[in-house]
Amino acid sequence: MSNQLGKIKELVELRAQARLGGGEKAIEKQHNRGKYTARERIAMLLDEGSFEEMDMFVKHRCTNFGQDKKHYLGDGVVTGYGTVEGRLVYIFAQDFTVWGGSLSETMAQKICKVMDLAMRMGAPVIGINDSGGARIQEGINALAGYAEIFQRNIMASGVIPQISGIFGPCAGGAVYSPALTDFTLMTEGTSYMFLTGPKVVKTVTGEDVTQEELGGASVHSTKSGVTHFTSQTEEEGIKTIRKLLSFIPQNNLEEAPFIECKDPIDRMEESLNEIIPDNPNKPYDMYGVIGALVDNGEFLEVQRDFAKNIIIGFARFNGRSVGVVANQPKYLAGVLDSNASRKAARFVRFCDAFNIPLVTLVDVPGFLPGTGQEYNAVIHHGAKLLYAYGEATVPKVTVTLRKSYGGSHIVMSCKQLRGDINYAWPTAEIAVMGGAGAVAVLYGKEARSQENPTAFLAEKEEEYTNLFANPYNAARYGYIDDVIEPRNTRFRVIKALEQLKTKRQTNPAKKHGNIPL
Ligand code: HXC
Repeated sequence: MSNQLGKIKELVELRAQARLGGGEKAIEKQHNRGKYTARERIAMLLDEGSFEEMDMFVKHRCTNFGQDKKHYLGDGVVTGYGTVEGRLVYIFAQDFTVWGGSLSETMAQKICKVMDLAMRMGAPVIGINDSGGARIQEGINALAGYAEIFQRNIMASGVIPQISGIFGPCAGGAVYSPALTDFTLMTEGTSYMFLTGPKVVKTVTGEDVTQEELGGASVHSTKSGVTHFTSQTEEEGIKTIRKLLSFIPQNNLEEAPFIECKDPIDRMEESLNEIIPDNPNKPYDMYGVIGALVDNGEFLEVQRDFAKNIIIGFARFNGRSVGVVANQPKYLAGVLDSNASRKAARFVRFCDAFNIPLVTLVDVPGFLPGTGQEYNAVIHHGAKLLYAYGEATVPKVTVTLRKSYGGSHIVMSCKQLRGDINYAWPTAEIAVMGGAGAVAVLYGKEARSQENPTAFLAEKEEEYTNLFANPYNAARYGYIDDVIEPRNTRFRVIKALEQLKTKRQTNPAKKHGNIPL
């Protein structure tokens, strides 16, 4: 064998060694835990054959605790770039078979390298996290590595989309970096997110808690709202990430991909003319409305199981991506509360940062009152949504279906928050508050002196309802641009969005605003 061929053979062998990560035994262990390896995940996520790996020969530099005696080629992360549906993406996938995917100084350098390239090229970064956080043996160098990653997460925010898959037990920096990204996805039963794992919790606080109880997918999808998507399997999770990418642009200077639409734009949806119940206190399902309006009924919901009183997600109107925000009358009567407000606010800001128009469907009785909400800073959380809509400069189309009362009317993309086109259905009720509440305030005292207070209040409530429980008062002042037939809504929204395609609006120059956090 010639010298050159010998060197090529050595290269092939080194590559094969790197591809084994922490070794065959560790890979088997990973599979037995019901998880794929970093390379298997990348292969599933990217278009076939498109992955170009970088930094395969990187080794850690730590000498503490006998670390210098053990090396894995590439260390605990696989990095590089490839395509999804032909569009460039950068990727890093932590390798749990190497010291539990924990982050070393050199791993951080590998991750930062692809993040820097993604910023230069204006392409999304996808991080597959399966890591115990900062590598304990490396001390401050591991912490510094995470800080370098966080700084890049922050600078990339609003410039390129950042998506995090959580595909194993993730702690410390392995959850803080995802928290700084735009979307997080967790798999049920195999992924966990916590600042510190159960072993550390037990040592510090004495609390006995399982990984699932501390930070399982169900905890973060229902209680904390930390995860935006969950999936039963890794395959399903990866499909969701690919689908999410189809709705969003490569960067903040581009638009989301246009997907040719076969669904007629003038499709009449007769069911919408009968969807609002006669009894204003009876709920209906907002999913039915969204499904009837958008292209092919296709809707990618975000944070489905958190704050179900508001629905957020991506859909298309005539092939163009939009962010849908809709109150859900079927859950807590669609009331706005702290969680619903912060859920919707973050979504509105993502859409605004990435040129995705907003379509808002309103049926909201108000903000949820009471100590539970006040102690939980509903004033701040509600203000977040107000701020997000008021700051947004993307096209904003609002349709009020039924209730739109008080502060919640203002918050839900009203005309004065620079709503571009505000439609209402004939069933809309736009007022300071509902009839019963209004009459109690206005006539409560007077009612007590009446012979029949109940009948008196009922009469006043009817008077109030006749005056305000309609869209025409708001339309009279131009706060509603048109009252539309529900079955025509798809067509009217598409026409509005097409008109707004060339919208250009800028906010005053400033370092940044001070959104109530
Ligand atoms: C070094 C680590 C490690 C770490 C795991 N390992 N985490 N090695 N540094 N941070 C190693 C384990 O020693 C083990 O090695 C292998 O990875 C698999 O871990 P197990 O514990 O066997 O797996 P499991 O039971 O599934 O538990 C996973 C885990 C747990 C929940 C992640 O390992 C854990 O609690 N790790 C520590 C998590 C933590 O508190 N991190 C905080 C880092 S601070 P062997 O050789 O036995 O296979 C941080 C700061 C960043 O990140 C800044 C934040 C703002």
